[in-house]
Amino acid sequence: MFETSLATDVAVSSRHSVRAFLPKPVEQALLDHILSVSARAPSGTNLQPWRVHVLTGAGRQRLVDAVCAEFDRYVGRPPSESPHVAEYDYYPREFFGVYKDRRRKIGFDLYALLGIGKEDKARMAHQHRRNYAFFDAPVGLIFTIDRRMGKGSWLDYGMFLQNIMIVAKAHGLDTCPQAAWVEYHRVIGKQLGFGEQEQLVCGMALGYADSAALENTLVTERVSLPELVVRHD
Ligand SMILES: Cc1cc2nc3c(=O)[nH]c(=O)nc-3n(C[C@H](O)[C@H](O)[C@H](O)COP(=O)(O)O)c2cc1C
Repeated sequence: MFETSLATDVAVSSRHSVRAFLPKPVEQALLDHILSVSARAPSGTNLQPWRVHVLTGAGRQRLVDAVCAEFDRYVGRPPSESPHVAEYDYYPREFFGVYKDRRRKIGFDLYALLGIGKEDKARMAHQHRRNYAFFDAPVGLIFTIDRRMGKGSWLDYGMFLQNIMIVAKAHGLDTCPQAAWVEYHRVIGKQLGFGEQEQLVCGMALGYADSAALENTLVTERVSLPELVVRHD
């Protein structure tokens, strides 16, 4: 038999995306600790392709205000009218098959929890906008990579991101990784002073979960092992 209550198993299994946070600040020393432990992530030839903009206090608020203003300017208008276009495809151009179903399910489940009807575009937009306030988390993380890096470095990046979420969880903190920021890379780059080669990867909200918030009770499914494993014995 094997141990099922190991701290890592618990941290990995209990991590989930949190979309409502308490205003309670995160101690700077704890944040630094989480980031330094997470930076032990492996990377091909130890390139360590990650760079993190850590936003708290007024710095966080300035970014939230700048991006929310742009969100509000174009909300409800056709996407073709918005100058805010992602620099890379995080998702497939068109969702298909099981991926389409899974994407729909998470959206509907979240909206159902919050009592948002399938046609209620205004409340859906309001919920989406919460991304751009880091769901009220006191810490916002904006991750960038040098755009000259190869696909492999993006693989390394995922390991770094996952480390942050797991280490944070083990310290009683919660997170929400956020691709939502990618559309606003120009606004963000200007606000945070990105270098010429600096490309936005994603954002992340980090803080203490509001356990009373309905959205934080969302439980997501995973496919069973036989659906993802191909055995060759
Ligand atoms: C890189 C990445 C980007 C994501 N972007 C968003 C986002 O912009 N907004 C959001 O609410 N959730 C976002 N998510 C969270 C996913 O919806 C979530 O991980 C998935 O539904 C599984 O749920 P769980 O994290 O609670 O296990 C993102 C997840 C990842 C890994």
